[in-house]
Amino acid sequence: MSVAAHQFLDAQSQDDLYEIAERTLPGGGLGGYSLPEDVRFIIAHGEGNRVRSVDGRWYLDFTGGAGANILGHCHPAVVDAVRRQAGRGLHYFGTLNDTAIELSELLVETIPCAEKIAFTTTGSEATAYAMRIARAATGRDRILKFEGAYHGNHDYAAFSQFPAAAANYPQATADSGGVPRPLQETMLVAPYNDLAAVEQILHTHAGETAAIIVEPVQRIIFPQSGFLVGLRALCDRYGVLLIFDEVVTGFRLALGGAQEHFGVTPDLASFGKIIGGGGPLGCVAGRADLIDKTNPRHKGKLDYAYINGTLHGNPIAAAAGLATIRELMKPRTYDRLHEGCAKLTHACQQVLNRHGLTAIAAGRGSFWQFLFMAREPRNQMEILASDTAAMRRLDIEMMRRGIYVLPGVRRFTSLMLTDEEIAETADALDGACAALH
Ligand SMILES: Cc1ncc(COP(=O)(O)O)c(C=O)c1O
Repeated sequence: MSVAAHQFLDAQSQDDLYEIAERTLPGGGLGGYSLPEDVRFIIAHGEGNRVRSVDGRWYLDFTGGAGANILGHCHPAVVDAVRRQAGRGLHYFGTLNDTAIELSELLVETIPCAEKIAFTTTGSEATAYAMRIARAATGRDRILKFEGAYHGNHDYAAFSQFPAAAANYPQATADSGGVPRPLQETMLVAPYNDLAAVEQILHTHAGETAAIIVEPVQRIIFPQSGFLVGLRALCDRYGVLLIFDEVVTGFRLALGGAQEHFGVTPDLASFGKIIGGGGPLGCVAGRADLIDKTNPRHKGKLDYAYINGTLHGNPIAAAAGLATIRELMKPRTYDRLHEGCAKLTHACQQVLNRHGLTAIAAGRGSFWQFLFMAREPRNQMEILASDTAAMRRLDIEMMRRGIYVLPGVRRFTSLMLTDEEIAETADALDGACAALH
């Protein structure tokens, strides 16, 4: 951190910083989350699985940088790679840089569907471009998504992410003001894990539908056996492209992401988070003929799909991503990652049971969350029908006890999770459950 930044921080108490944030940022925050005043905090530092607030309190961090920080904070290999790259330049724009090329080769080698990749800056851009490529390739406008799925912040993603009630399928509903009304016509929505509903929609709209986009694990909802294979088969039968949104699952479920884990290969896939090691980087990966729709030599053709961005292939993020993926390529990485999460959810489930709560510590892989329901959900409506107020209250009680989880939001374990941290989390949950009674 620079001397000037240190001086700014040293001169400000947490309250002073809130006062500035309230004046300068909408809702005094950085995005879509607004926490109750007594549990919010301002992060000054991250280390391993912990973050320290400006006023010196340490938290066990399960937000994991929204999934990006699979190695925790400040992993030495990542810090070293970023330092070395920073000494050669933070950012160049234009044709190519060696670090981005090195990462592109590693991505093509590890992602099953990736014959080629095109870099983006964020996961949102990656899903937007995947949809654009699918439209350009098929000449069709419509995209089918699933209710409750999150594909980022752009207009096409802002449909049926946060439904308050079941949709009139396949009619999608906008979640935000400012989304042009005509776009609603281009988005179709289906309930997750429901192949019959997808088939019915494709039967009516196949000729207008460019692609199905799916989170292979939708938030905390896992695909039922046969769902992803069934989507692949329906796409093939109806001549529709299959897009996996692997912004979260990529390099987290397995080195080859959900495609490797579930053994289903999509036509296109979007990535972000881990591939930039927590820095600004994403990509669209897929069949060469599809990714080549973005080839700038084809500008002017009707099926050319425009991709461009100041930070695409940013060398700092590419260096962080390369260092992260190389760590992930070491033996037993994913066994250890998955074992850590299984131990954590097991320990938490015992606490929930001891308190007699009808609640589950849901999760697999490295995803987990408390849900007030008796068994794992199959779709977003089942979560909505559960006691979501209790779910939020429990998470807020966890935050009061130094466990950093955003209320009601799916969370992650990192590769660095220790048995002591699992015991600490279970202890905090014990106190949190007692506070609920
Ligand atoms: C599945 C999925 N897709 C897309 C995105 C958007 O990525 P970004 O926030 O980098 O734009 C996210 C972000 O959390 C995500 O979880």
